[in-house]
Amino acid sequence: MPLIRAEHLAYEYLLLDEEQETEEKKTALKGLDFSVEKGEYIAILGRNGSGKSTLARHINALLFPTEGTVWVKDMRTDDESRLWDIRSSAGMVFQNPDNQIVATVVEEDVGFGPENIGVPTEEIWQRVRASLQAVGMGEKGSSAPHRLSGGQKQRVAIAGVLAMEPECIVFDEATAMLDPKGRREVLEAIQKLNQEKGITVLLITHYMEEAALAGRIMVMDQGSLVMDGTPRDIFSRSEDLKALGLTVPPVTALADRLIEAGLPLPKGIHQETQLVQAVANLYKGRGETHGA
Ligand SMILES: Nc1ncnc2c1ncn2[C@@H]1O[C@H](COP(=O)(O)OP(=O)(O)O)[C@@H](O)[C@H]1O
Ligand SMILES: [Mg+2]
Repeated sequence: MPLIRAEHLAYEYLLLDEEQETEEKKTALKGLDFSVEKGEYIAILGRNGSGKSTLARHINALLFPTEGTVWVKDMRTDDESRLWDIRSSAGMVFQNPDNQIVATVVEEDVGFGPENIGVPTEEIWQRVRASLQAVGMGEKGSSAPHRLSGGQKQRVAIAGVLAMEPECIVFDEATAMLDPKGRREVLEAIQKLNQEKGITVLLITHYMEEAALAGRIMVMDQGSLVMDGTPRDIFSRSEDLKALGLTVPPVTALADRLIEAGLPLPKGIHQETQLVQAVANLYKGRGETHGA
């Protein structure tokens, strides 16, 4: 059974004018079909307004389909009796850490979710300690959140979600407001959660280098899912991406220019090590030919 499944997922909303009268009906999601297996690391790309956040909110049961169905494990997200099960199975981290932190001490903040769902006190503390440890914030339990850096605050927000013991976390541009150091810290924490704890990750991002680290990339455009494949598949289509208002990682752009200049490199290179290897292979081939 997939961890998440969407079938013909559509979401329409009514656009209201100043008098709160209906102006028109808009479609933010147009019949999406996909599934996510446990343990996947998926990046979701798409220009502003393409429907990424609307999709994320469906997975977390913050929005409900106007057509079609979303399941988290065996639960339909519109089954109100399972709302808390759904929200604790599929957690969500948003862009602005300041809007997600509710307490004045880090460990209280992280314990807030489990406390709300009635986890016994002793277990809450275990979860708080383990969650802070997992995001590299084990030493900051008694700190005041407002004294932390952006990257640290965002890791506290992630720990707060982790303390709910989710199987999946959706990150909605969770690194967008951070400086490069904060971004790196948060990304490393996310990768560790996926690799070491097997947590399924859906990462909505504008940074192509972040998407290049995923195992799979989904591309949204105007409410539709228009591409779904490995980073190599997706980044070998730089022209198609450009038409969707997207770019490729810097290393892909460089490899594309080398291909244009006549080097026979494979398409879809998206990590530096791949470019180094591919160029080294060309030279190796030459050396052998000349030596023979
Ligand atoms: N309830 C709503 N009221 C007004 N506009 C909405 C509503 N829900 C979604 N939208 C619109 O739907 C589109 C998709 O938005 P969103 O999911 O936020 O895109 P993204 O996260 O990719 O930038 C946008 O045009 C947004 O303005
Ligand atoms: Mg968004």
